[in-house]
Amino acid sequence: MSELAGLFGAIFGGILNIARQLVMSVYVILWGVWNFLTLLWAGGKALFGRGMLKDRLIATLARPEHMRAILAVLRTFIPTIVVNKRFVTAYDNSATAFVTAYEDVLEVMNLDQVFQTTYAPKMALLTEGNNFFLGMQEGPDYINNVSNMRLAANRNDIDEIITPFISAEIASVLVAAQGKLDVPRTLTKPVLARLVGHYFGTPGPSEDVLIDWTHTMFHYIFFDFSDEAEIVAAAQTASAGCRVYLDQAIAARQKNGEMRDDVLGRCLKLQTAEMPGMDNLGIRNNFLGMITAMLPTISNATTRVLDQLLARPEVLAGAQAAARSGDDELLSRYIVEAFRFNPMNPVIFRRAAEDHTLAAGTLRQREIPKGCFVFAANLSAMFDPWVIPSPGRFDLSRSPDQYILWGGGIHKCFGEQISRTVMPVFLKEILKLPNLKRASGPAGQMDNAGTPFPQHLTITFEGAGDEKSCT
Ligand code: HEM
Repeated sequence: MSELAGLFGAIFGGILNIARQLVMSVYVILWGVWNFLTLLWAGGKALFGRGMLKDRLIATLARPEHMRAILAVLRTFIPTIVVNKRFVTAYDNSATAFVTAYEDVLEVMNLDQVFQTTYAPKMALLTEGNNFFLGMQEGPDYINNVSNMRLAANRNDIDEIITPFISAEIASVLVAAQGKLDVPRTLTKPVLARLVGHYFGTPGPSEDVLIDWTHTMFHYIFFDFSDEAEIVAAAQTASAGCRVYLDQAIAARQKNGEMRDDVLGRCLKLQTAEMPGMDNLGIRNNFLGMITAMLPTISNATTRVLDQLLARPEVLAGAQAAARSGDDELLSRYIVEAFRFNPMNPVIFRRAAEDHTLAAGTLRQREIPKGCFVFAANLSAMFDPWVIPSPGRFDLSRSPDQYILWGGGIHKCFGEQISRTVMPVFLKEILKLPNLKRASGPAGQMDNAGTPFPQHLTITFEGAGDEKSCT
């Protein structure tokens, strides 16, 4: 009898599962169609207005909600596109693929031997012929460099050096702000430049020059797919200046024998211990890569998160309450969830080192040929309704595997823990400000000023010395 009940239970469970899959398929298709219509509507509206039509269309489609809509349409109807054409001219490749489904994006990121990073030629331009570990494949050089940098910039530093330093710097900027603040320009970028000086031991010739060098090099590495002459020239100038500066900073520290406990001081100790890759050239190249990865990223991400919070009044109120009550765990949930809606890296790119069958055995299965340049859209993966429950909802209960914000596989972000600590320190202080609002007019909107980085987002608040608090 119990065997019969078990059999019926299994059959019933199977039928329920089939029904669930059918309902889900219909829902996903309707969702795809809805996003397609949304895009048509947005595109239609962009036909009318001031300026060039092309610029209006690009500006419309680049909005985070429209990027998500484009990806939803692709994910629903053509989850992986493979085209026998080379679109990216900055790197050797023979075809192009665009991957949007959650499992397939993970497959690309996790199969490091098949899908390899392409950055080596760009790193060679910046370092004058060498590489940085993001541009390397798994092997002795990669392991030695990452290990050295993990020792030089170790986990304890986050609580012992980084957090106290930036907390004090943020406080002084907010006091001076007098109720109005352009977040990236006046707060995040200068404070991070000071952190590079304090923590790495290389403040640059000035904060502005360090900010300019690192953003210019970052732009060239991550956003230039066609070796655009202007971007290449700017990267050459910035990296040449940065190399000379770093060479001099290393030599000066060696000469004066100062024993500072910062990343440079520790690299020099590793050099004394004859660790491979820690000669002066190795230290310089690691510094070039690390400071370029450090400064533009956290400023960019923090501004994007703030913008997403400001766009949702109820969410903002919740995040403010978490910040004010000191509930750091909850605040972190607000931050990663807001970041999911407009991540800094919406795609990760790789090149196939061999032929590969992606999503083998599924309806999404596609052949990726050797030499194919592959865009793995992690933004799309984080909104894939087959895996992410109610992806369009701002949901604080998501599990860590629902986020792909810091990459994956062996090249997963070196600075993930630093960013996961430093972003909340910035945002907590901003969210605690009384009567926090966007500034009125265009100043209160996030503005990239024609670059890949948020350059402006002005907020107002009641601060010491501002007009409202004096009344
Ligand atoms: C919110 C801030 C940040 C985000 C969203 C971010 C994102 C990423 C992503 C997506 C990758 C993988 C790139 C790829 O696979 O092609 C990466 C790698 C990397 N990141 Fe970050 N990053 C952030 C902050 C930082 C910081 C603060 C540092 C330095 C302390 C840093 C250092 C690195 C390095 C060195 C790699 C290469 C890791 C490797 O090749 O093993 N990042 N980051």
